[in-house]
Amino acid sequence: MTHRIALIPGDGIGLEVTPAGVRCLEALAQRPGLNFDFTEFPYSCEYYARHGTMMPEDGIEQLRGHDAILLGAVGYPGVPDHVSLWGLLLPIRREFQQYVNLRPVRLLRGLTSALRDRGPEDINYLVVRENNEGEYSEIGGRLYDGLPEAMAVQATVITRKGSERILDYAFRTAQSRPRRRLAYATKSNGIKHSMPFWDEQVAAMAPQYPDIAVEQYHVDILAANLVTHPDWFDVVVGTNLFGDILSDLGPATAGGIGVAPSANINPDPAIPSMFEPVHGSAPDIAGQNIANPIAMIWTVVMMLEDLGEQSAADDLMGALEAVTGEGKVLTRDLGGNAGTTEFTDRVIAELTG
Ligand code: NAI
Ligand code: MG
Repeated sequence: MTHRIALIPGDGIGLEVTPAGVRCLEALAQRPGLNFDFTEFPYSCEYYARHGTMMPEDGIEQLRGHDAILLGAVGYPGVPDHVSLWGLLLPIRREFQQYVNLRPVRLLRGLTSALRDRGPEDINYLVVRENNEGEYSEIGGRLYDGLPEAMAVQATVITRKGSERILDYAFRTAQSRPRRRLAYATKSNGIKHSMPFWDEQVAAMAPQYPDIAVEQYHVDILAANLVTHPDWFDVVVGTNLFGDILSDLGPATAGGIGVAPSANINPDPAIPSMFEPVHGSAPDIAGQNIANPIAMIWTVVMMLEDLGEQSAADDLMGALEAVTGEGKVLTRDLGGNAGTTEFTDRVIAELTG
């Protein structure tokens, strides 16, 4: 099967880790029956500097015909972050209704957690973040700007449809895992309207999934428990803002930003999902071949799973974890001295050897 992949390397280390991911895919494509057709798009801050927009007007349409989008990172000094975010990432996530942001938090073999005495058996959960609505809405405004009476209002939008589809995804994901537990983040004790509504949607759906143990946590104690008792958690679902925060906290306990993968998913196979490492463009280390490609390679694993290539995904993840488990070839952020390409070479050797 040939999968059409849109590549957006973006900026900074995105230009270094994306080729690492592509090399892994090309190594897998040596197998009969698996092929990738890559189309590269130059959308980035450099593109912005030349054209005044992050992507052309029909950029979304150009991406539409692909089976998946693989993105490195966007953002660079000189272009305000809200320009790069609202000009590229958010339009892609919203136009394609990629309403699931999925972030696995799992301590890979051989890596050290920031949490004392925690090993791979303790940290293995999945954060499912609502990716299209919630606290990140465009509804609101300012009044009396600059005056002592100045005020700002930002509305949170939680819809029944939006909650149902993310919760359904979370429940089904919990069903696919051996522990069958779903924790959900709320703050219905302090936020009077939107969070009780969210809780009601969970309560209404739970009876359809009698095999799932559902646990409610207010987001503050949930954050604390992810640090003190990560082993309690299996699937964690939250609205956009809460999910965003928890899904940065999680990877911080599992080897850091250089290893954290993510996916923006629309489960409808007719619409492309977008896969991207959690990290940004890291201007401080860009261009030196020292960026850790683990986040990107693991992101590629998630893309393969979404494309239905489970055995290729398992093999690539196995190769990646064999290399981390061995602990000999690691990049600097993990205490080693290997470069981006050297680490990638090692993973490919493991994969094909
Ligand atoms: P960042 O994730 O780029 O970097 C934070 C720190 O982690 C830096 O010290 C960096 O060197 C290090 N780091 C990140 N990825 C690494 C890797 N693979 N290997 C080794 N070290 C790594 O976040 P920062 O500095 O806040 O943002 C830089 C730019 O990236 C900004 O323009 C920001 O808007 C953009 N950004 C883009 C994102 C995206 O494309 N999804 C996400 C986050 C930030
Ligand atoms: Mg974030």
